[in-house]
Amino acid sequence: MSRKSDSNPGEKATKRANRALRVLSGTKPTGENLHLGNYFGALRQFVELQEEHDTALYFIADYHSMTAVRSGAERRRHTHAVALDYLAAGLDPERAILFRQSDLPEVTELTWILTSITPMGMLERAHAYKAAMDKGEDIDHGLFTYPVLMAADILLYGSHLVPVGRDQKQHIEMARDMAQRFNRIYETEALVLPEPYILDDTATVVGTDGRKMSKSYGNTISMFAAKGVLRKSVMGIVTDSTPVEDPKDTNQALFELWSLFATESERQEMFERAEAGGLGYGDVKKDLLARLMDYFEPMRARRAELEQKPEEIEAILRFGAGRARALATPVLEACRAAAGLGEPPS
Ligand code: TRP
Repeated sequence: MSRKSDSNPGEKATKRANRALRVLSGTKPTGENLHLGNYFGALRQFVELQEEHDTALYFIADYHSMTAVRSGAERRRHTHAVALDYLAAGLDPERAILFRQSDLPEVTELTWILTSITPMGMLERAHAYKAAMDKGEDIDHGLFTYPVLMAADILLYGSHLVPVGRDQKQHIEMARDMAQRFNRIYETEALVLPEPYILDDTATVVGTDGRKMSKSYGNTISMFAAKGVLRKSVMGIVTDSTPVEDPKDTNQALFELWSLFATESERQEMFERAEAGGLGYGDVKKDLLARLMDYFEPMRARRAELEQKPEEIEAILRFGAGRARALATPVLEACRAAAGLGEPPS
C-alpha cells in the first residue's frame, strides 16, 4: 500500500476511481462459530472496504448452503447468525449493503442464463467439484453448478472487486469467463468483468498449535465465546519448554497471537522482555486473554443485544435487499434484452 501523501493529483484521481469500484462478497450460512482467523482474515477487511468504497455489498449465501444444510429451520438460524456476526463486527448497514441472497430470486434467473453459455468442461475443472469427486461423495447437481450461481451473485450487481480467500480465486475467474462469453455471444456489455481481490495473506492468523488457524485443525480461538471458553483456548496455546529465567524465542504462536492485540511499541517492549529472559509464558497468556476480552467484548455485547431482536435483523436485511435490487434490476434487464427474453424493451 502506498504511504505517500494525497497531494499528487494523479493519485487523488486513482483514489476516486477506486472508490467507485463496486465490492461484493458472500458468506455461506453453515452454522460455524467465527474465530480469530475469520475475523482478521476476512471480516475485518470487509468492514474496512465499506469505508474505502462507495458501494460494498455483503450477502448471506443461503441458496448456496442448500447443497449442505438440509433443514429450513437450521438455514434460517444460520442466516441470522451470519448477519449478527457481520453487524457485531462493525458492518454498517447504512453504508454497506447487507442482504440475504434468496431475497433476490432474480439471481436464479441469471444463473439459468449463465448455465446456457457455460461449457461443461469449465465446471468439471472446478476444484470444489473435483475434490468432492475424488472423495467419492454423492454429488448433486447443485454442487456441480455452484460456480454458476456464484458467478450470478457477482455479475447481477455489476461487481468489480470480489474480496475472497485464495481458495475462491478460481470461482471468480470462472465468473469473469462467463461474463466475457455472455457479452461476446449476445454482443452486449451488460455484464461487468469482475476481478478477485485476494484478502491480505499476511492477515493469516496462527492457531494455538502453531499451524494456520482453521476449524479443521481444531486450533481456533473463537471470537464470541464466553470467557471460560476463551481462557481454555488461550491456556492451551502450545509453547516451547524454555524455563522462565531463559531468553524466549519470540517466533512462536503465543507471541504472534499476542501481537494482534498490541501496538507496535508494546510489541517491541514485550519482545525485548522475552529475549531478556525472566518472562513466563503463563503471564503472557493471561495478558493475551485480557486483551482478547477487551477487544471483542463490545462486539460480543452488540451481538448479544441484536440477537434478542430478530425483527431488527429482518428489517436490516429487507433494507439491504431493496438497495441491492436497485443495482440488480438494470443489469438483469440488459441481459434479458440482449438475449431476447421477455417483452421487447420499448
Ligand atoms: N463460495 C463462497 C465461499 O464458500 C461463498 C460465496 C457465494 C461467494 N457466492 C459468492 C463469495 C459470491 C464471493 C462472491 O466462501
